[in-house]
Amino acid sequence: MEDLKRATFAIISHPDAGKTTMTEKLLWFGQVVRSAGMVKSKQGNYAKSDWMEMEKERGISITSSVMSFPYNERAMHLLDTPGHKDFSEDTYRTLTAVESVLMMIDSAKGVEAQTKKLMEVCRMRDTPIVSFCNKFDRDALDPFELIDDVEKTCSIQCVPMTWPIGSGVEFKGVYDLRNKTIMSFKDAKDPFSPNIIDASDLKADHIKEFVGETLLEKLEEDLMMIEELMPEFNEEEFLAGIMTPMYFGSALNNFGVKEVLDTFSKFAPGPGEREVLKAPFEKEETRMVDPSEKKFTGFVFKIQANMDKKHRDRVAFIRVCSGRFTRGQKVTLARTGKEIKIATPLMFQAQDREITEYAIPGDIIGIHDSGKLQIGDTFTEGEIIQFTGIPSFAPEIFKRVLLKDPMKGKQLDKGLQQLSEEGSVQLFKRHNSTEKILGAVGVLQFEVVQRRLEDEYNVKGEYEGFPYTGIRWVKIPTEKMKDEFVSRYSANIAYDIKGRICFIYRTEWDLKLAQEKFEEVEFFKTNDFK
Ligand code: G4P
Repeated sequence: MEDLKRATFAIISHPDAGKTTMTEKLLWFGQVVRSAGMVKSKQGNYAKSDWMEMEKERGISITSSVMSFPYNERAMHLLDTPGHKDFSEDTYRTLTAVESVLMMIDSAKGVEAQTKKLMEVCRMRDTPIVSFCNKFDRDALDPFELIDDVEKTCSIQCVPMTWPIGSGVEFKGVYDLRNKTIMSFKDAKDPFSPNIIDASDLKADHIKEFVGETLLEKLEEDLMMIEELMPEFNEEEFLAGIMTPMYFGSALNNFGVKEVLDTFSKFAPGPGEREVLKAPFEKEETRMVDPSEKKFTGFVFKIQANMDKKHRDRVAFIRVCSGRFTRGQKVTLARTGKEIKIATPLMFQAQDREITEYAIPGDIIGIHDSGKLQIGDTFTEGEIIQFTGIPSFAPEIFKRVLLKDPMKGKQLDKGLQQLSEEGSVQLFKRHNSTEKILGAVGVLQFEVVQRRLEDEYNVKGEYEGFPYTGIRWVKIPTEKMKDEFVSRYSANIAYDIKGRICFIYRTEWDLKLAQEKFEEVEFFKTNDFK
């Protein structure tokens, strides 16, 4: 795969829209798995990522993983993201490591809550999006309604590339707007040899016969509307993240999947420039790292524990941004300035991980981590820089941690510190108190932390609900004002693991009052503010 241009992408969707099915089919077309069903087994467990009993019990995919395969002269890296909303922070961070995204929509439902939230993250970064309206083998919304929904909810211009003819039991297939052909749904079972019907003349008898009179009338009307109302696909606008090519089909039936993969292989951007802060970081000077730079750089976007139950290990996933990484190379962890030799860098396939000899920009490598790495850590060949834009998002639920066995205070501290550094949960300390607060986006995160503290650190904690509903990182212009702010709101002050000041509040009203009282203080929803 060395010479192939990288396409590093992820799928976003609301749970049940078909992300797992799509992943499986993409891997199938990519010829990584020989039969469908290898990613998700029949019981609904995830063969690749069932790293914890809990995940199996619940049948949800908690952590992200990477799947790589060559396709159409591209090295495709598909980064899996957890569908469950409680782990959406994990997904947000995975989105910082990709160059493009596939948005899956359940066509009976339109854009659902989780997709909307994830799209907001993509829009923040202008990530190019390909859209797939799934489940057309079932009754679906009218395609214009779906387009309208995507355009309104996600603020992005849609350009249909194919057009569905009917849906549910009436689903005939899709009309390819550029080639003027129809791909028949009936014959979709063998995805490698679809039945393509010439539809350059929609009045031709074979089309009338295939589509049927009513649906043909609707198709003709729809095509006229498209011609009048819809813009042409424009690669530049796609790459700028303001236009999304849209496909219709059924992942379960392998229908329309190959076209999506072809689009990624043709148009998905390769690795681009990324911003870094230069040392000393307080000066807030930045530069752009270009993938063609000779020296290796990369950042940790994900730390995953217990990937392989046999080994009980932690793997840090590093996105390579520039240069070339070679196995055994010594690299600098910019946060500490220390050199680390990476002897066994891992690359991932659908089911397997294997030691790789090299990695280039766009690649994802995994390295074993004994608890020293943090999300956002930057690796270089000596330069002290810090990749930006790998934020933590303000948690929305909070718990106070109480220790059952007071002799285990140290273990608890260590466990909480490590789990927060690897991004499982966020840890805050209260002002003038030793009290620890855990913050999460979803309640299941607490369960994971509780379980892992017991399993890996042998500490039992008690977790008490906390009547706070939000937190903001604050930037205070002067030391004097900082003192004033902290003394005025001492009960609302907390510090994150890097010691930055945060304002924790019970109601939006409290936040508003503080913002009004201290107009010059800035309040941030993510911790990557400058
Ligand atoms: P997710 O990862 O986004 O949560 O979705 P997943 O792929 O697990 O799909 C959710 C359900 O939707 C599954 O059914 C799956 O078979 C079904 N599905 C996915 N794509 C299509 C499609 O194109 N057409 C139809 N009709 N169904 C589709 P399930 O019954 O919940 O699970 P399973 O028992 O089939 O695994």
